[in-house]
Amino acid sequence: MKSVTLLLVSCILVSFIMGHVKEVEAQKDIFLGGCGKDGNKTCINDFVKKGANKPSSCECDDFGDEHLCRCVM
Ligand SMILES: *[C@@H]1O[C@H](CO)[C@@H](O)[C@H](O)[C@H]1NC(C)=O
Repeated sequence: MKSVTLLLVSCILVSFIMGHVKEVEAQKDIFLGGCGKDGNKTCINDFVKKGANKPSSCECDDFGDEHLCRCVM
């Protein structure tokens, strides 16, 4: 009985930690075009356009004729 409770508690703990890590984890993706004047906004729009959740903030790096977005969801 006690070990079952322990197992349950650790399961809840692990899923909580995993969920939290996923939330903080930055999302990276490469899109066509440059970063533009406001890379933050450009990247947020790119993520929305591809159907992902709207990031709260992004960093943009020009990458040839593409740009790399690193966003926090
Ligand atoms: C990026 O844009 C969002 C929404 O406009 C804003 O809330 C956020 O603070 C901006 N982040 C940076 C790093 O400028």
